[in-house]
Amino acid sequence: MKAFEFHTTKSITVERGAAARLAERLRDLDYKSVMIVTDAGVLQTGLLEPTLRNFAELGIAVSVFSEVVADPPEAVIQQGIYAAQQQQADCIIGFGGGSSMDAAKLIALLCHSEQALCDVYGVNAATGQRLPLVLIPTTAGTGSEVTAIAIVTTGKNEKKGVVSPLLLPDLALLDAELTLGLPSHVTAATGIDAMVHAIEAFTSKRLKNPISDSLAKDALRLLSANIHTACQHGENIQARENMLLGSCLAGMAFANAPVGGVHALAYPVGARFHVPHGLSNSLMLDAVLRFNLRDAEHLYAELADVVFPAVVGTPQSRAASLLNYLKDLPEDLGIAQSLREVGISESDIPLLAEDAMKQTRLLINNPREIHLSDAIALYKEAL
Ligand SMILES: NC(=O)c1ccc[n+]([C@@H]2O[C@H](COP(=O)([O-])OP(=O)(O)OC[C@H]3O[C@@H](n4cnc5c(N)ncnc54)[C@H](O)[C@@H]3O)[C@@H](O)[C@H]2O)c1
Ligand SMILES: [Fe+2]
Repeated sequence: MKAFEFHTTKSITVERGAAARLAERLRDLDYKSVMIVTDAGVLQTGLLEPTLRNFAELGIAVSVFSEVVADPPEAVIQQGIYAAQQQQADCIIGFGGGSSMDAAKLIALLCHSEQALCDVYGVNAATGQRLPLVLIPTTAGTGSEVTAIAIVTTGKNEKKGVVSPLLLPDLALLDAELTLGLPSHVTAATGIDAMVHAIEAFTSKRLKNPISDSLAKDALRLLSANIHTACQHGENIQARENMLLGSCLAGMAFANAPVGGVHALAYPVGARFHVPHGLSNSLMLDAVLRFNLRDAEHLYAELADVVFPAVVGTPQSRAASLLNYLKDLPEDLGIAQSLREVGISESDIPLLAEDAMKQTRLLINNPREIHLSDAIALYKEAL
C-alpha cells in the first residue's frame, strides 16, 4: 500500500436539536465571550434563535457577526476579525453554509495572530494558535466542518485558499433540524457539490487513499439515495440527516484526497459571474467527467456500483450509467443546466479558461491533464 496520511475534525456530533443546546455543551469550558459568525440569510430564517436563547439562559455572553456574504471577500474576513477583537471573543462559532464556516475559521485563526490574511494563503503558511472553534453546517454541502481549507474571494474575481490543519475545528456539530427549511434549489446545488467532492476525491490523482475511498463511496451512496427526497420533501428529517452526513463524509474524503478539474473549472464561473459554488460545480460536472473518462473509467464504474447496486455490465457501460445519471440530475432537481442560463456567453470562455489554468492547486489532482485548449473545449461543452 502506498503510504498516506489522513486528518479530520477530532470531535463530531450528529444529533437533532443539538444546536439549540450548544451553550450547555460549552458551559464547562468557561468562555466569557462567544461570537457566532453567520450570514444575513441564515439570520433571517430565525434558526439561530434557540441557540441564542440557550446562551442567554446560561448567562454566557454571546454576539452575532452576520456580515458574511456568499464566497466571502477579504474585507468581510477583516471586519469579522476586528469585531472578534473588539469584543474580546474567546470562542468562535461558524453557523451557516460554507461561506459562514470558512469565514469563522479564518476569524478564529487570525484574531490573535501576528499574521495578516495575505500571509496565510496557500498550504501550511499559517502559524500560531487559533481561538476555540465550533462549526455548525446549515447546508449539506461543502463539508467545510471537516476540511482544513477556507476559501476567500480576493480582489474582484479571484478565489484563494488557506490550507492549514489549524482550520480544522474543535467540534463539528451536525444538526439536521437546521437544514429542514433549506430551499429546494440550494439543497440541489449544495448536494451536487457534495457529490462532486466524493467523486473527485475518489478519482484524485495525487493523494487518493483507502480511507478517503471508503468515505467517498459511503458519501455518494447517501447523497444519491436522498437528494431527490431532500429537494422534493424538505421536511423529511431522515433524508436531511443523510444528506448532512453524506456531505460530511465527502468533506473528510476530499480534505485528504483533494478535488480536481470540476472545481478548477467551476471556480472562475463562481468568481466572475457570482454563480453559487454548488451550482457552478454542477454546471461543469458532466463535461469534465466525460473528458476524464479516458483515464478514470474504471473508477467511475466502481462509483456506479454504489449508486446503482443492482447494475451489471462492463466497466464501460457502468461508468456510462453513472455519467448519464449525473447529467440528468440538474434537470431532475430543477436547477440550471447550462452556462448560458447563468448569463455566460461564448465570448467569456477565453477568460474563464485562462482563470481555470491558474487553479494549479486543483488541476494537479485531476485524473487527466487539462491544458488551456481542453479548458476552452470544456466550457464550450458546458455552454
Ligand atoms: N472549506 C471548504 O472545504 C469548502 C469546500 C467547498 C466550498 N467552500 C466554500 O463554501 C462557500 C459555499 O458554501 P455553501 O454552498 O454552503 O453556500 P453559502 O454558505 O454561500 O450559503 C448559500 C445560501 O444559503 C443560505 N442558507 C444557508 N443555510 C440555510 C438554511 N438552513 N436555510 C435557509 N437558507 C440557508 C445562505 O443564507 C446563503 O444565502 C463558497 O465560498 C465556497 O468556496 C468551502
Ligand atoms: Fe465544492
